[in-house]
Amino acid sequence: MTTDYRSLSNDYVLHAVKKEKSLIFDRGEGSRLWDLDGKMYLDTMSGSAGPAMVGHAHPAVAEAVARQMAKLPSTNILHESVPVIEFCRRLAAITPHGLTKTFICTGGGEAVEAAIKFAIRVTGRVEVISLTGAYHGMSLATMGLTGMPAMRSWLPGAIRWPAFRQIPSADSYRPPLGEGPENWRAAVHALEADLDGASSGQVAAFLMEIVQGPNGHSLFPAEYYRGIQRVCRERGVLLIVDEIQTGLARCGATWASDLFDVRPDILVAGKALGGGFPIGTFTTRKDLIPDTLESEAWHMLTFMNQPVAAAAGLAVLDIVEKENLAERARVLGAEATEWFRQLARRYEVIGDVRGPGLFIGVDFVEDRETKGPATTACRKAWEYALDHGLITQFGGIGANVLKFKPPLTTPEADFKQMLEICSDTVAFIQQEVDRQKVKRAAPEPAGVAR
Ligand SMILES: Cc1ncc(COP(=O)(O)O)c(C=O)c1O
Repeated sequence: MTTDYRSLSNDYVLHAVKKEKSLIFDRGEGSRLWDLDGKMYLDTMSGSAGPAMVGHAHPAVAEAVARQMAKLPSTNILHESVPVIEFCRRLAAITPHGLTKTFICTGGGEAVEAAIKFAIRVTGRVEVISLTGAYHGMSLATMGLTGMPAMRSWLPGAIRWPAFRQIPSADSYRPPLGEGPENWRAAVHALEADLDGASSGQVAAFLMEIVQGPNGHSLFPAEYYRGIQRVCRERGVLLIVDEIQTGLARCGATWASDLFDVRPDILVAGKALGGGFPIGTFTTRKDLIPDTLESEAWHMLTFMNQPVAAAAGLAVLDIVEKENLAERARVLGAEATEWFRQLARRYEVIGDVRGPGLFIGVDFVEDRETKGPATTACRKAWEYALDHGLITQFGGIGANVLKFKPPLTTPEADFKQMLEICSDTVAFIQQEVDRQKVKRAAPEPAGVAR
């Protein structure tokens, strides 16, 4: 008799964001996953947008983790290990200029939280500003830095850490401050106005993603990054960049910051960096660190700066370098972007296609004028794609932005097949939206009470 894992899961696993059609997987390799029935799926999401950036179950990562587990899995927090030192040194060599000291922990949100605490400690100020549409994690503190109300609305009173707030972003497709060729200026001014008006000189840091992945791939004009950077420098506010999704080759450069010449004071990473092993990091400037800080308990975690995460990270950095994954992200990203842009010529339901690199968002709208999200059709499309062997995810406030971020090591044949199934999925969404429009336009049957 075979074990009924679905029913055991319902009985024993406490889920979040579970869906009726959620699958139970058995194994993975590269860009492929197999469920318990042995059915194969192609993964356009690299796990949850990154851990499988080098591919699922990469043998070099598996080997490095196994080796470190057998040699030295953990150290007491008062002591150190060689892989941690090596990994931090390697990260320093590839992070934007001047960022040389790294803190390692077990996840992205946790790394954001550590970075924020660090910024508060070193500046002696308590306020932190982030953007509308931002997503930085789901701990009680990082939720208060989220600019996606739905992520917080379930908390009684949508309560947040009192010194955290959001200002309008420069989202190019749905600009919160209104349409206009230079509306990024208004968004930069929003930061200046906040620093001048809303705070009393208490702002420690400004925190942003280069591309807001969870918000539905919101991208800002290049000038915006420059403007924000200038304001932060002028006012002595630390610039923290969250590259948990965009980081490490994904966008066609080591960091998405590199594409826009953004020079953060603190850079946060996670997801892809562990090749499937849980990891989060932040890297900062040595000159920001007060003499006594490293011997204080400003932050303390059982799993901070531990050797297995570092071993996984070192293996991932090797793969990124050897397989030239930033270049691969550029090449495959250009191919996929062009593919979706061609589809946008045929299907009106595609409102926008956004990169950069192999970090692509396809925004589905009911109407290109109003940009109203095609939410219902996209919900069905997720199931459609799954039935056709494709793991996808639709994000954004309207859950209407198809994210396309497969492993950077995806073989050519799998990549083509992913794009083919995506094409069918786009056609499906168009049909659904058309069907809904016809239904809405149809006269009500006679005799229906108003
Ligand atoms: C931009 C960004 N920041 C922070 C996080 C939180 O990372 P984690 O889920 O590893 O805590 C995520 C996760 O999706 C993210 O995309």
